Amino acid sequence: KRLVVLISGQGTNLKALIQACQQKKLAAQITAVLSNKANAQGLAYAVNMNIPIHTLDINDFTGSKSFDYALAAIIDYYQPDIVVLAGYMRILSAEFVYRYAGRLLNIHPSLLPLYPGLHTHRKALQNGDIIHGASVHFVTNIVDSGPVILQAHVPILSNDNEITLAQRVKNKEHVIYPLVISWLLAGRIVLQENTVFLDGVEL
Ligand code: GRF
Repeated sequence: KRLVVLISGQGTNLKALIQACQQKKLAAQITAVLSNKANAQGLAYAVNMNIPIHTLDINDFTGSKSFDYALAAIIDYYQPDIVVLAGYMRILSAEFVYRYAGRLLNIHPSLLPLYPGLHTHRKALQNGDIIHGASVHFVTNIVDSGPVILQAHVPILSNDNEITLAQRVKNKEHVIYPLVISWLLAGRIVLQENTVFLDGVEL
């Protein structure tokens, strides 16, 4: 099975996916990594593994639609079973989302539907939450609100700041993202309407 991964930044989730493939926890190969930032740190993980990388700059396009059209053309060349958003920081056009419906995943650093958008760790700390986490979800047209497949929880400790909390959440992200992808590749996850089933059981 084949994955294409989209990133914009650090790429620690990409790194976790690469490792999961190496360790055969994921029966898949990452056939390409795409970034909308030429200087995304995470690209180095792909380069080190000889995974093809492609970077696209929005300034070279007339708008989001043509950008996403070019993105899709590159993705389709690699014929992925799943398109994986891993810290990809551009909102995708409706056409793009529709094209990959049911095989487009994102990971978001909050317990959705809490805190869609940016600065999730700051918001959780400001609200005095005692639990925080990450969600793997199918991507739909509404940002950070597609059907959730799996969430991981972490405690918020009294001495936490955004950095310590983000790191605790990421450690979980790196475990649950490969896990969900393995389920989807094995046909264990089905999306019907807006409902997710695992092994036929509604989640
Ligand atoms: C993660 O926190 C992920 O949940 C969010 O963006 C961050 C990406 O981190 N969507 P990295 O680039 O994988 O290190």
